[in-house]
Amino acid sequence: MKITVVGTGYVGLVSGACLAEMGNDVLCLDLDPEKIRILKEGGIPIHEPGLDQVVARNVAAGRLHFTTDVQEAVQFGTIQFIAVGTPPDEDGSADLQYVLSAAKAIGRHMTDYKVIVDKSTVPVGTADKVKAAVRAELDARGENIPYSVVSNPEFLKEGAAVDDFMRPDRIVVGAEDDQAIFLMKALYAPFQRNHEKLLIMDLRSAELTKYAANAMLATRISFMNELALLAETLGADIELVRHGIGSDPRIGYHFLYAGCGYGGSCFPKDVKALIKTGADSGHNLRVLNAVEDANDAQKLVLVDKVVERFGEDLSGKHFAVWGLAFKPNTDDMREAPSRVIIAELFRRGATVTAYDPVAMPEARRVFGEDARLVYAERPMQALDDADALLIVTEWKEFRSPDFDVIKAKLKSGIIFDGRNIFDPALPKKAGLTYLSIGRP
Ligand code: UDX
Repeated sequence: MKITVVGTGYVGLVSGACLAEMGNDVLCLDLDPEKIRILKEGGIPIHEPGLDQVVARNVAAGRLHFTTDVQEAVQFGTIQFIAVGTPPDEDGSADLQYVLSAAKAIGRHMTDYKVIVDKSTVPVGTADKVKAAVRAELDARGENIPYSVVSNPEFLKEGAAVDDFMRPDRIVVGAEDDQAIFLMKALYAPFQRNHEKLLIMDLRSAELTKYAANAMLATRISFMNELALLAETLGADIELVRHGIGSDPRIGYHFLYAGCGYGGSCFPKDVKALIKTGADSGHNLRVLNAVEDANDAQKLVLVDKVVERFGEDLSGKHFAVWGLAFKPNTDDMREAPSRVIIAELFRRGATVTAYDPVAMPEARRVFGEDARLVYAERPMQALDDADALLIVTEWKEFRSPDFDVIKAKLKSGIIFDGRNIFDPALPKKAGLTYLSIGRP
């Protein structure tokens, strides 16, 4: 099949590369010439395990191409994926300008039947807006070329994106005509050889499904984070509670990890956007408002613990921070707890040496030149002259450190662990004070 993907961000690039991997001819469009230059030269503009090989393999096979030429891109694919950003507006609602300008471009340049697929996470009702935008462009040209609009939200996780796309749990397709359904079924047939994963539904249900999934997962995390704080006060252990409840299949083990808050490009943005959609249609989504409040507070829990130990004023104190990315296996720092934590340490007068296996270049961009923040080349080097260590991202390489070295380096001998990565007995044995989330 001939496929165009508009937008080479996480979702667009992974979708394009994985669809090419299944033998399709894919052309990816981006208006950013720098991104397209990198891709054409065989690089990838993001850190995502395994994606570079999939891209390189399919470029070499002649199935994956990149362009900045809108007309060429629109005329190429029968299926046109819209996978552009939907950043939050000031009021929290998703900004649809990039989605709608992609839709307009398709209407302006199409010369034959197209299936226009919303892959970006978009509020309920967007498919209707896309349909209208295409129609308006066709009317302006005096054309009546047929097209279908489909909602096909993407559920991939950063850090596991290629695997998630190649082996999806489910493929949600919102569509309202047989021709579009037929083509989407054919497109996704190779991804569901073991059992049927395609869920065909109406457009609005598909759009709401994506928000419902992310909001549910964020809710589980905020719920566990609140329980963790309670467990600490009561002298219970949230990790044991997690096992205790996760064994109930109605609850399950996934996404029950208490920590220093969720970040990333999806949960914070989608929870906000769903709250806004609710408010706009007369529904106060009380649970989700609480989920958001709890998460905002949770991002400061590690600093609260630091303040309990070192006092409100942290002037002259120096902290090591392990982990800057919002989660392991990515260099993405969007809404990362590390940003809030480091900013709060600065506000209280402290300085920081940070280490992250891949996100330090991104951190340099985020924080700019700031004398209060330096970077270490190795995790242990970050501990030089530090009063205490804060663990913010659970990278594998942090999991088995030499606790005696940590003890020798840290002035206070305290580890504040925002991701509960150690068995508390180990740092304790080395004489360290180990403060984690929701554990005694
Ligand atoms: C998420 C969804 O999982 C994915 O389906 C959707 O398509 C996009 O949003 P992603 O943002 O890549 O994916 O990361 P995810 O692995 O879901 O983690 C999100 C945040 O939640 C991270 O900050 C992570 O540290 C945090 N988290 C996750 C917890 O705090 N506890 C958990 O138990 C799980």
